[in-house]
Amino acid sequence: MRRGIILAGGSGSRLAPLTLAVSKQLLPVYDKPMIYYSLTTLMLAGVREVLIVTNPHDETAFRRLLGDGARLGLRIEYKPQASPDGIAQALILGEEFLDGADSVVVLGDNIFFGAGFADLLQRASGRAAGATVFGYSVVDPQRYGVVEIGPDGKALSIEEKPLKPRSRHAVTGLYFYDGRAPAIARSLKPSARGELEITDVNRVYLDAGDLTVERLGRGYAWFDTGTHDSLMEAAEYVRAIELRQGFRIGCVEEVAFQMGFIDADQLRALAGEAPKTGYHRYLRQLADGEI
Ligand code: G1P
Repeated sequence: MRRGIILAGGSGSRLAPLTLAVSKQLLPVYDKPMIYYSLTTLMLAGVREVLIVTNPHDETAFRRLLGDGARLGLRIEYKPQASPDGIAQALILGEEFLDGADSVVVLGDNIFFGAGFADLLQRASGRAAGATVFGYSVVDPQRYGVVEIGPDGKALSIEEKPLKPRSRHAVTGLYFYDGRAPAIARSLKPSARGELEITDVNRVYLDAGDLTVERLGRGYAWFDTGTHDSLMEAAEYVRAIELRQGFRIGCVEEVAFQMGFIDADQLRALAGEAPKTGYHRYLRQLADGEI
């Protein structure tokens, strides 16, 4: 079974003073903590075993929020990252947890939404060998990893924050790997910015002809919540959809139920006897088949 890693470390310096006392991935995105969104992304891919990589001093807060995951039908473990030395470091920190299994790595500040996303995730998950990344067309690709996609859906080139991007396709913070990934990460040298770059892991797969790109087209929303404005944009997006449709985005309990990780009685228990908040009433309605 594929196992998941959520990167919820980092100093969050770009969002200070918001992040002086609270981990960035625990900040609210409208009505939920940010990490709910990346966690549901993993769950929709069918992942039930998750490692959360955090700052050493934030681990307790994440544990308070998610515990061992059992109430969601998950197994959640935690791993402190003493210093934030790059996304690829998570694969090294997670090597023992992965224990040779295929993996999905997601950045805890990335939010994905769109019809058919679960199918796309499950397709990527079903690919036994190689790696899969997701390309999203943006107006400012130079801020991201950039991938050039061949006609067969294989990557032709991949570069980290290129001055002259070869395509408009940003590489989102969601990566599917086979069991080779931790060894590849261990073989890397730090980049000019002193980090073990996930783009360098992906380039090893590319050179072997093993890097598939799934395109997230027009119908998809992808936010990274690295700035105050993008954090606000993501919240406004979630709010607009939730108020209009009455469905929630990134609701961990709902996805656990949808995926069959918990049953209706367990969901009802999570809603509580007399649900006090709109969120809990929503869980109750789901459990009662009213939504
Ligand atoms: C990281 C990756 C980059 C990717 C981005 C997505 O960038 O290095 O390839 O496009 O996440 O959010 P960073 O946030 O480290 O600047």
